[in-house]
Amino acid sequence: MHTLSLSSTTTPKDTNVPIPLLGFGLWQLPGQACLAPARAALAAGYRHLDSAQLYRNETEVGSLLVETSASIPRSEIFVTTKQGVCGGSPDKTYQLALASIQRIAGEADGGYVDLFLIHTPRGGADARKELWGALERLYSEGKTRLIGVSNYGVEHLEEMRRGTGYAKKVWPPHVNQIEVSLTSHLPVSIQGEREKRDLIWLVADLREKKKKLHPWSQQREVVKYCKEHGIVVQAYSPLVSGEKEKLEHPLLREIAAKHAKTPAQVLIRYGLQKGWVVLPKSKTPERIVQNANVFDFALDEGDMVALDGLEEEV
Ligand code: A2P
Repeated sequence: MHTLSLSSTTTPKDTNVPIPLLGFGLWQLPGQACLAPARAALAAGYRHLDSAQLYRNETEVGSLLVETSASIPRSEIFVTTKQGVCGGSPDKTYQLALASIQRIAGEADGGYVDLFLIHTPRGGADARKELWGALERLYSEGKTRLIGVSNYGVEHLEEMRRGTGYAKKVWPPHVNQIEVSLTSHLPVSIQGEREKRDLIWLVADLREKKKKLHPWSQQREVVKYCKEHGIVVQAYSPLVSGEKEKLEHPLLREIAAKHAKTPAQVLIRYGLQKGWVVLPKSKTPERIVQNANVFDFALDEGDMVALDGLEEEV
């Protein structure tokens, strides 16, 4: 565990595409609001940005990549986006996804994102198949280097594995990003019916399934499934969405004090030591730096077991 560093990566099965273990979440930072935090994150050494159609900041991520290209080559930054809804036909769904890549990478040939995820399984079995078909097409065209899913439970992954109606050019999905979020995470602005519907699904999904991934909710069943099938687990909202009560939990404070670290740093380190890709979000410059400063200490087995035990408190 001591060997983890800011440049540590994990490479999904059957690929040669490394994913930086520490990423920066761009949720709740729509449009221009993402620019200063994302710049600060890159300056602090993060090399992984997590966007989505729903976050409404793909264009700004694209402009940031151009802006920074002189000092940080595009190939050194890992960029994710996500799509949660279909377009009305397989081709229109593909076109919607392609538009994301054009926003992030421009319209010239050769533009790509590093990872494209289905944002939510909530659209139903037909939507899941159509979205996956669009992602497989982008993948085979080299427009995304990896493809995966988000908020998927074992039942959705099993549906893909069984493969009815799936071309199954890619199995398993390279990533399952599991989120921690309830209604406190509503985006600042919601524009248009499509986004509203997407958001309603997302929030309903979270309420119903509670797909949380931090010590209070470890998603043991789906995490185990992902491990068995070689699917990289990404944890977003690892800081319990900044929930004060949890960040000030006596056990967490005690472990943090023992290592002269903050509770947030302990939670990020916990996720990294679990083998997850961890995606904290902050718009505060000092916290952005603090959240990346988690590689000069290690939680011992007792700490990990104690933190694991927090789930039982829910
Ligand atoms: P802010 O963006 O104002 O800095 P999560 O990553 O779990 O979704 O949590 C994001 C929330 O946690 C945001 O409200 C963010 O606030 C807050 N946050 C981020 N980093 C820290 C930190 N180091 N200590 C306390 N709260 C933090």
